[in-house]
Amino acid sequence: MVIEGTCYINREREKGEKGRVCVTGAGGYCASWVVKLLLSKGYTVHETVRDPDDEKKNGHLKKMENSSNLQLFHADVMDYDSLSRAISGCEGVFHAASPVPSGQLTDFQKELVDPPVKGALNVLKASHEAGIKRVVLVSSMAAVVNNPKWPKDIHMDETCWSEMPSCKTAEVTRDYPRLEGKIHALVDVRDVAEALLLVYENPKAAGRYIWVAYSLKFREMAEIIKRRYPNFEYTTEFTDEKGNKEFNSEKLKSLGWKFRPLEDTLVDFVEYLHEAGLLKWKESF
Ligand SMILES: NC(=O)c1ccc[n+]([C@@H]2O[C@H](COP(=O)([O-])OP(=O)(O)OC[C@H]3O[C@@H](n4cnc5c(N)ncnc54)[C@H](OP(=O)(O)O)[C@@H]3O)[C@@H](O)[C@H]2O)c1
Repeated sequence: MVIEGTCYINREREKGEKGRVCVTGAGGYCASWVVKLLLSKGYTVHETVRDPDDEKKNGHLKKMENSSNLQLFHADVMDYDSLSRAISGCEGVFHAASPVPSGQLTDFQKELVDPPVKGALNVLKASHEAGIKRVVLVSSMAAVVNNPKWPKDIHMDETCWSEMPSCKTAEVTRDYPRLEGKIHALVDVRDVAEALLLVYENPKAAGRYIWVAYSLKFREMAEIIKRRYPNFEYTTEFTDEKGNKEFNSEKLKSLGWKFRPLEDTLVDFVEYLHEAGLLKWKESF
């Protein structure tokens, strides 16, 4: 989501400096890639994290190229003042800090609704106060897919909004069988970072954007990986399910968004799992 403001900051930029932006939740998965991209393009980045001493979560940021252009801010999105300090002096904000629970919730409203809503409002208020030019707010498919009124034969686009009761039901009954046969919406996180920068930099960008590069089933992903790594053992126990949801990313594509070939994403993913020690294979592979 792109939100316009009025920029009254007119700082003298140092030679070669692209501008100063704030990235919230900088140590998180999506935000880290955004920070990396921004640094590579010459931006100065105010990164917000909740625990600056947590090396395990945030240590990778210091190791990024051009990390001398990073300024660390301790901020919680529920705490307006901490956010305001981080956003002050910037021209743009990328808001990616949000609770992303992996287990069962005990209180849907308190854990999953209040922090992102209050956090986004705090970011918008602090951005307004700081005269921020543009806020890019990272959301989720969860804000789109839970709309039972959307026609089944039409791909979901930016006009489709989830309804709260359906979100709650979806979260409470959340269960991801590993080999489910549904179509999955897929996008490389590096292409997400590119998309976020594109909507930040392109003056024509406005409103909501869906970024889905590919829609396919696990079975199809496995086929692609198998071509490159034929010696793995592959399961054949895939299920087939009806009621798939598909998405329309034409709005973003028409702005000039390009994404990687699917095979590159899948192969890099497998290679990363190996590098991280999460996937073992024989040397002969
Ligand atoms: N990853 C995906 O596949 C995906 C797909 C679609 C959309 N998204 C969206 O992208 C956004 C980021 O997700 P992610 O996958 O990057 O998750 P993530 O790795 O868990 O990152 C979330 C970040 O938010 C921070 N955070 C949580 N609560 C906060 C608070 N109260 N104040 C300040 N920071 C807070 C976390 O900080 P701590 O480290 O301190 O906990 C963490 O750095 C979310 O809105 C998510 O819905 C992600």
